[in-house]
Amino acid sequence: MSEHATARPVSDTPPERVDVPAHVPAELVHWVDHHNDEVVRRDPVGFMDELREKHRVFYSPAYEGFWAVTRWADQREVFQRSDDFSSSPVGLPGGPGYGGLKMLPIELDPPEHKKYRALINPVFGPRRVGTMEDHIRSTAVDLIENILASGDEIEFMAAYAEQLPTRIFTEMLGLPFEEHKKFIGWVRVLLHSSQIKEGLARKREAGAEITAYLTDLIDRRAADIDTGVDSDDIITLLLGSEVDGEKLTSDEVLRMAFLLFIAGLDSVTAAHGLFFRFLADNPEHRRQIVEDEDVIDGAIEELLRYNSFVNDARTVTHDLEFAGVAMKKGDRVWLHSGAACRDPREFEDPLTVDFLRRPNRHLAFAAGPHRCAGSNLARLELKISLQEWHRRIPDYRVKEGAEIEMHCGGVGGLDTLPLVLG
Ligand code: HEM
Repeated sequence: MSEHATARPVSDTPPERVDVPAHVPAELVHWVDHHNDEVVRRDPVGFMDELREKHRVFYSPAYEGFWAVTRWADQREVFQRSDDFSSSPVGLPGGPGYGGLKMLPIELDPPEHKKYRALINPVFGPRRVGTMEDHIRSTAVDLIENILASGDEIEFMAAYAEQLPTRIFTEMLGLPFEEHKKFIGWVRVLLHSSQIKEGLARKREAGAEITAYLTDLIDRRAADIDTGVDSDDIITLLLGSEVDGEKLTSDEVLRMAFLLFIAGLDSVTAAHGLFFRFLADNPEHRRQIVEDEDVIDGAIEELLRYNSFVNDARTVTHDLEFAGVAMKKGDRVWLHSGAACRDPREFEDPLTVDFLRRPNRHLAFAAGPHRCAGSNLARLELKISLQEWHRRIPDYRVKEGAEIEMHCGGVGGLDTLPLVLG
């Protein structure tokens, strides 16, 4: 280890002196605590805009240290070069610690990854997701009608953003919706930084609670299968699936179910919060959606780009040079997708939200072999929400004086969004 003072931090004050590995040049050291810095918590996506322009790659000594690859083309390359940048383990130190589980398929590299990914692709493919459209739509309409009947002030996250995706996803996984608040609570502890100050112990506990719950559920589904009870939930499907001619073990089913649980329960909720906050604050954009629903597909891609909120990490598999920087085997690489999605080298005028932007090659769902498996479902839910909501509630605004708390971490988003309707 060598020791040098960090360059002027763009974020909060780091410890006065920090240790960095000898191969890290001093001019690339920039303290960023992506969980706790005030600047990150205020604007989990935009805080990287300045850093991306300053550094193609920088090194933050926080959380045992990591390289941050900031630009679109470089991030895309990292996603695609699995031989050099492994997905095992996922997340950075200081992150979730998923109850000690190695999740499938997200923590496998090719070629093994493909075998497990192939098991879930059909469940989330466009054809299967398309069959869910009517059900998602009627669920959305019921929620919106209830909101309209409840008055003209709502807390959007609790009343809608959490409800729609959670209802749909608990059904798919075969979980009881009545327990959704408990599930969401666990996932938040795991994925959001707001709890990190309570220490990683709480995250590990949440991971253990999810593990225990899913283990019990998997055992019950296996018993159902043995007694001939038919079900079409994903866990039952996984219990009947094979890799290399062998049935999945219950441990493998658990590691896949765990990933789906944390990937499916929070991300679409987060997208709803960020999208509706933007639309509440920007009546011109809202009007485009109200007046012409054909704009919605483009609006979804653009709002995903502008608000890109899922951040990924990789591990360097051997000493290599990347973006002009010498990286060592075992170095961690952080891919803040918001930084890439606002990179002016790829997106003209990136801070302008343009629903007609074409092309829009955002990385909100990542790229390469691990590109989001749930993107069809996420897009459909968002599309239905934007359609049905604006047909009934074309005007709304953020409640005056409301303080909107944000969270950052693996999945960024809003804690609350108080809206005034009409
Ligand atoms: C707007 C909502 C969503 C966003 C922005 C999003 C984003 C992402 C990103 C960036 C990755 C790549 C992670 C990596 O490379 O390390 C990913 C992977 C994944 N996502 Fe999503 N996601 C969303 C919704 C969903 C939903 C609804 C599901 C359903 C369960 C889902 C399931 C998955 C799975 C299973 C993976 C791992 C794929 C693999 O390793 O091959 N996602 N997601």
